[in-house]
Amino acid sequence: MNEQRWIVVPAAGIGERMGGHTPKQYMMLGGSSILQITLSQLLQVPNVEGIVVVLSADDSLWPTVNAGNDRRVHTTIGGQTRAESVSAGLTFVLSQCNPDTWVFVHDAARPLIQLSDVQRLSDAVYNSGAMGGILATPVQDTLKQASEYYGIERTVNRAELWQAQTPQLFRAGELANAMNKAIEEDKKTAEALDHQISNDNQPAPLTDEASAMERQGHEPLLVEALQPNFKITRPVDLTIANALLGAQRS
Ligand code: CTP
Ligand code: MG
Repeated sequence: MNEQRWIVVPAAGIGERMGGHTPKQYMMLGGSSILQITLSQLLQVPNVEGIVVVLSADDSLWPTVNAGNDRRVHTTIGGQTRAESVSAGLTFVLSQCNPDTWVFVHDAARPLIQLSDVQRLSDAVYNSGAMGGILATPVQDTLKQASEYYGIERTVNRAELWQAQTPQLFRAGELANAMNKAIEEDKKTAEALDHQISNDNQPAPLTDEASAMERQGHEPLLVEALQPNFKITRPVDLTIANALLGAQRS
């Protein structure tokens, strides 16, 4: 498929779980920032017309990212939540191309992404005719449901459970509509809870793009990632990512 695609890279988070003064996307791995490593991988994806990096309003470190000099790389300002940041990125994409354009959304905090897995995702989505899909891995460990006091309430069957990753691939217009609807829905639910109106039918959490599409009744494709592609979240992840990047380079 030779169609032009776009990529939205949410990079407006504060990295609370990582701690430290620098947001994690600007922490260094082997001489480059995590955001620089992620972007240099994404710039090699075939047929990418543009990449929009979503930054926080008070970001002062973006000028240090060399990938920003590539003419395909643009920036826009994000929001309070990841979903709002992705929505801002999609607004930018839709100002540049038509709503049927395929767009990958990929976390700045996943610098280990390999082109072979991006290719697996797009091949699977295009060949299946699915409306979209995501990279993911089947859950490997035994899963426990915790009680309120961190006792084990029960063991959860993991056979049908997958861990979602990014990139997630959808058509720009459909994804923007689904995300914006879900964001509005969640605002209303939060207001209702503020007013103590109970709601037993709470929608699934909006922590990725697929969840917004699921709420619209779609069934995005799960495509297994074969290479490590974890999200850098806590300090120990920096150590593991450093070792893996070193191994990839040698
Ligand atoms: N992100 C974003 N806008 C937000 C929150 C998150 O663009 N308001 C981005 C992050 O920069 C990151 C990706 O979404 O690249 C995945 O989010 P996460 O790993 O949760 O990053 P943070 O929110 O920065 O980390 P934490 O939740 O620990 O604060
Ligand atoms: Mg977060």
